[in-house]
Amino acid sequence: MAALTYHLTTFGCQMNEHDSERIDGLLESLGYSPAAGPDEADLILLNTCSIRESADRRLATQLGNAKRFKAARPGVVVGVGGCWAQSLKQEVFERYPFVDVAFGPGQVDQLGEFLLADSIEAQGYFEFDGFTADLPMRAVQSAQAWMQISVGCNQKCSYCIVPSTRGLEVSRPFNDLVAEAKVLVARGAREITLLGQNVNSYGRDLRPDRRTFSELLTAVDAVDGLDRLRYTSPHPQDMGAEVVAAHVALPSLCEHIHLPLQSGSSRILKAMRRTYDRERYLGRVAMIRDAVPDISLTTDIIVGFPGETEEDFQQTLDLVSEVQFDAAYTFIYSARRDTEAALITEGVVPAELASERIGRLIELVQENAELRAQRFVGRSVEVLVEGPSRTDPDRVRGRTRHNKPVNFSGLAKAGELVDVEIESATSTSLRGHATMLASALR
Ligand code: 5AD
Ligand code: SF4
Repeated sequence: MAALTYHLTTFGCQMNEHDSERIDGLLESLGYSPAAGPDEADLILLNTCSIRESADRRLATQLGNAKRFKAARPGVVVGVGGCWAQSLKQEVFERYPFVDVAFGPGQVDQLGEFLLADSIEAQGYFEFDGFTADLPMRAVQSAQAWMQISVGCNQKCSYCIVPSTRGLEVSRPFNDLVAEAKVLVARGAREITLLGQNVNSYGRDLRPDRRTFSELLTAVDAVDGLDRLRYTSPHPQDMGAEVVAAHVALPSLCEHIHLPLQSGSSRILKAMRRTYDRERYLGRVAMIRDAVPDISLTTDIIVGFPGETEEDFQQTLDLVSEVQFDAAYTFIYSARRDTEAALITEGVVPAELASERIGRLIELVQENAELRAQRFVGRSVEVLVEGPSRTDPDRVRGRTRHNKPVNFSGLAKAGELVDVEIESATSTSLRGHATMLASALR
């Protein structure tokens, strides 16, 4: 019999990308190989997201396609994983009877169990007890690796579906993480990104030995051969002095912090249940810049939260002008089922007004980003090479420690660290030429 094939589509955040890498690893260990497209696959998988409505719409299209492919070839198995599946649970099967297996985030191992079982009954797996991270890893690793340090979230942001899809926060054991970091580096990783919904509250649930996030940073930084360490996303509430001090003390910890703001209005922040106000956020920024003046700061901002007035929005614009972020991801508020904010009926911002506001915000964010990026022009920066440029095959693509994408001329292979002199900068990327290999490929 020919080997079975699979096709996996991933929606959503880095947590899902990471889960999907594990799914690839799991399926390859079960003898599956990748198919050219979902129309040819024996197993069609969708790793879903439910953070915003736009992801739901794209998913609906993909589910429609899976249904057609299965109708054409009845042996095909359709699986949905991730946050959208988790939020619907068994309802997935009622609404989409052609789905054979559904599993929540962190339940990737259950997919393996399902595929190995004899039963062809539709199955759903929605417990929060698994750690995807304990599954087999894919053999081929790039120089950049992710490490999930916790699942779930204990915050109660009123707009966010995550607490209902990923459950309460559970930290992975400290020693397991340090051991995994060593394995990743031994397999060729030069950069590790620690992942979690709220990374800097890591370790509080570990019993009997509570650990802190900065202790984890220190231990991973100490892994021999690791060049770069990153994390995402921290919560401003837990962005304490210890974590900032780690940026100064630890050589591998990169000069970049993604610090989600959400709104510049204290009134809206309160309605969002973000647990900090405008001043406190600005205080965090000042503390960070005091310690590492050249750091890159990026953020997430939601516009059009129910009750947001022009004045509230103006406060967001003012804060953005004041902080001068290196980049910002901007989102129009989207009401999500089972969230507190979805019940707010007063002050709902009309779609047109929300898109007008986001347009103004994006313009400001881009202006700031372009200005901020000019500080790199004329400087020599260390770039971790990712491969050939996507737009110009004669150039090479990589990322700086500040997390800026760079396109440069010169010869370099994926995984190498190269010094690049920056010639010009836009709001999204830098251009330059290689001056030397910063260190040889291991
Ligand atoms: N509507 C719009 N944006 C949202 N985000 C999270 N939930 C919503 C929502 N309901 C944004 C936040 C978060 C990022 C990952 O997605 O800005 O930081
Ligand atoms: Fe990631 Fe949140 Fe989307 Fe889940 S709902 S995939 S945690 S962004």
